[in-house]
Amino acid sequence: MRVAILGVGRLGAFHAKVLSETKDVDELRVYDADAARAKEVAGPLKAKAAASVDEALQGVDTAVIVTPTDTHALLIKKCLDARIATFCEKPIAISTIGVRDRASFNGAGATTVDMAASGELARKWAMARDG
Ligand SMILES: NC(=O)c1ccc[n+]([C@@H]2O[C@H](COP(=O)([O-])OP(=O)(O)OC[C@H]3O[C@@H](n4cnc5c(N)ncnc54)[C@H](O)[C@@H]3O)[C@@H](O)[C@H]2O)c1
Repeated sequence: MRVAILGVGRLGAFHAKVLSETKDVDELRVYDADAARAKEVAGPLKAKAAASVDEALQGVDTAVIVTPTDTHALLIKKCLDARIATFCEKPIAISTIGVRDRASFNGAGATTVDMAASGELARKWAMARDG
């Protein structure tokens, strides 16, 4: 499975470490708005630091969004438009308008979007992998 992580701050770095140790993950890419941070996290994990969101998402099976909350809705939409199964850290948005937008994401196509806290990672990853 090829996985892209968008945002590798405090929690994103944790996701990256867990995913780098997951046997079904063959390729791990990380993107962060702070390019130095992306390289810092990617290096020890032997992941690839992508230069842009588009480069990170190109050809991946799954995306993990761990950016600040106000960016979640836009990034979820981008992933689902590309038919990428998507996992996003909670919360989905900072307003009810943003949350309502999620309803339209679910009609976007034959893919999945999931929201979870880090403690549920193993179960959620199995669901993402198996559909
Ligand atoms: N830290 C936690 O324990 C925790 C728990 C549950 C949920 N969350 C949620 O996870 C998300 C991230 O939290 P955090 O504590 O890791 O934040 P953080 O500020 O430590 O990390 C966010 C990272 O995203 C990067 N970033 C900002 N805009 C970006 C963009 N457009 N594209 C790519 N990268 C971008 C930043 O440079 C930073 O490295 C938030 O929505 C938060 O509510 C955090």
